[in-house]
Amino acid sequence: MSVTAIKGMNDILPGEVETWQFLEQSAREVFGLYGFAEIRTPVPEKTELFCRSIGETTDIVEKEMYTFEDKSGNSLTLRPEGTAPVMRAFIQNKLHNLDPVSKLYYLGPMFRYERPQKGRYRQFHQLGAEVLGVEDAKIDAQLLAMLHQYFVHIGIENVSLQVNSLGCPVCRPDYRQQLIDYLASRLNSLCPDCQRRYLTNPLRVLDCKAQGCKAATVDAPAVIEHLCTECDSHFSQVKGYLDQLAIPYSVNARMVRGLDYYVRTTFELVTDQLGSQNAVAAGGRYDGLVESLGGPAVPGIGFAIGLERLVLLKGEAKIAAASPQLFIAAIGAEAADRAFVLMSQLQQAGVRAEMDYLGKSLKAQMRRANKLHAAFTLIIGEEELQSGRAQLKDMSDSSQSAVELDNLAIELVAKFD
Ligand code: HAM
Repeated sequence: MSVTAIKGMNDILPGEVETWQFLEQSAREVFGLYGFAEIRTPVPEKTELFCRSIGETTDIVEKEMYTFEDKSGNSLTLRPEGTAPVMRAFIQNKLHNLDPVSKLYYLGPMFRYERPQKGRYRQFHQLGAEVLGVEDAKIDAQLLAMLHQYFVHIGIENVSLQVNSLGCPVCRPDYRQQLIDYLASRLNSLCPDCQRRYLTNPLRVLDCKAQGCKAATVDAPAVIEHLCTECDSHFSQVKGYLDQLAIPYSVNARMVRGLDYYVRTTFELVTDQLGSQNAVAAGGRYDGLVESLGGPAVPGIGFAIGLERLVLLKGEAKIAAASPQLFIAAIGAEAADRAFVLMSQLQQAGVRAEMDYLGKSLKAQMRRANKLHAAFTLIIGEEELQSGRAQLKDMSDSSQSAVELDNLAIELVAKFD
């Protein structure tokens, strides 16, 4: 039996990869407008990094991490998300000394041992952005404006932005206790998972998909009704700036997010087109995270977009691979040698050129030129070798013009300029 890929981990094949490249290139363009620079971190990190940042009682850390020991007995984990590694790199490389504000973006594979289904995989790709050093609500709105602009740029419109505030270490403990008291009085209606975690991670109960938990928490206290004055005013400012920038949003008071590091602003971009995997992008503020990982007291906010989900949303609007500008068909071995050198010269001059490598008949070569959607074709046989001239055929209207083989590169470069 042949070896197959690991369950929940996908190949991205030619024909699909063009959509990925378009999404990635668009991100570089749009994020560049907002002053973001790319950062690349290793795929594995010390396991401790994720336990300390994402939180010991989260689903990710409890059940979903790809954790293993290396040959020296160190516990390593394939990154399940990008924020913690970026914070680690920020602290380790003292990026705060270079600039009081760091705007960083990243793009790459993440790993979570989840049950695979449409839009949910074990290796998936995130396109993320993080801003470090700004507490002002303007940056929350800026980041959401950038996310909005990116979605407009890539032509995905059927998504909506939901925002919430999760408070801070001043106001959340009170709220948390109220929620625990509320849940304690309805314990029998909760699913076994929530009965187990309502004391350690009560906010997660609000996010549980089980019908019983949903019903039992309809009237649960909402965190935005229990914010301290500072958090309340920060959230009002975020909403005010979003209104000023004409970014559409709605407040979802039940949004809690599945990672423990969030404070204040949290948000999700959701769609109704992907079944239960409805979050295309998500993020929020994590003031305090850098400090808790041993760095300076620097506030932070960011988001990550799930690229597989974007590709699914892009759906049928496939982006075509670049087709050859010239296909050279050759008759006979000597002509094939000449065609080979000509093709290489053209490629070096910046022309996308192709030929046949399989010794096919002229008819088969022309069929291939058509299949590849070559813009021009050129046939080289004995006569063309002797005269040094050939007919360049424009495949769009079948018109022909004579060209000197020695001048081919110059002529073609001029045509495609
Ligand atoms: P997250 O909500 O865990 O947040 O993931 C962000 C996005 O990644 C999701 O909205 C989804 O589109 C995609 N995603 C997550 N898990 C999977 C999966 N198994 N398969 C396919 N796509 C998936 C974070 O990861 C935070 N680090 C975001 C953030 C950045 N917060 C602040 N800065």
